[in-house]
Amino acid sequence: MTPATNASTPIVNFDGVSLGYGDFTVLKDIDLKAYPGQVVTMLGGSGSGKTTLLRAITGQINARVGQIQVFSQDIAQLDETALRATRQRMGVLFQQGALFTDLSVFENVAFPLREHTCISEQQTLERVLEKLDAVGLRHAAHLNIAEISGGMARRVALARAVILEPELILYDEPFAGLDPISMGITAQLIRGMTDKLGCGSILITHDVAESFTITDQVYIIGQGSLIAQGTPSELSGSSNAYVRQFLQGEPDGPIAFHYPSTPAFEKWLSQQGTA
Ligand SMILES: Nc1ncnc2c1ncn2[C@@H]1O[C@H](COP(=O)(O)OP(=O)(O)OP(=O)(O)O)[C@@H](O)[C@H]1O
Ligand SMILES: [Mg+2]
Repeated sequence: MTPATNASTPIVNFDGVSLGYGDFTVLKDIDLKAYPGQVVTMLGGSGSGKTTLLRAITGQINARVGQIQVFSQDIAQLDETALRATRQRMGVLFQQGALFTDLSVFENVAFPLREHTCISEQQTLERVLEKLDAVGLRHAAHLNIAEISGGMARRVALARAVILEPELILYDEPFAGLDPISMGITAQLIRGMTDKLGCGSILITHDVAESFTITDQVYIIGQGSLIAQGTPSELSGSSNAYVRQFLQGEPDGPIAFHYPSTPAFEKWLSQQGTA
């Protein structure tokens, strides 16, 4: 049974969530909502915890404090079967490649269809070519992964993430490695998929300008928590020093460029014998 979704019920709902690894807390006090038909953008410096948030939505890691609901279910309470069924309702574009290097472009995109549906070869062909066409790679269907460029691989991964036309799509850095034209087309594709399917889309990116053209809500994370939230125009008009530094890419301000020192680093350094 799959709980119904409607536009007034969030597809993803974080309520006072803390996330971390081992004894390291990456984020705390996170409240976040994504509704059907919305593109929600997550901005934050490198290492601020964006991919960690995405892992929490897919149930790869659990909240230490608070609750994460996906499709109105507490993701931490799902057994393995229910978690698998829930993940089938999501499409994920992972930050790191994750294409099958021994399969062709076509077979990479066809893979979720073959795994999760019983549609005919003809239907598979049509659906895969339609999605490849949307990312401009229809005529690359026959190529091996070794024969395509980094930016093309990103677009193949994007086509694969949306092939099942899921209710929730998570995009981790979909613009990475794309030229300006592909970037603009990809942004419009994300907006178009969201409107057409009425799905929720969570977009993780560093590209403020591109994402702001297609986004309903923006969340900015940093310094271990949520710094700001609002529509692109609300945030563009913000006087918050952190928001302004982030949106304008200024080197000076409250956001530190350097990864902070930790006891674990100091211990490692003291063992190197050169410090
Ligand atoms: N598996 C892991 N075990 C321990 N620490 C981790 C793990 N994955 C990430 N971290 C740490 O958690 C923090 C957040 O990492 P995360 O990958 O979520 O950042 P990010 O915002 O996605 O960064 P980027 O923009 O560079 O992709 C970092 O300090 C990172 O070192
Ligand atoms: Mg990341």
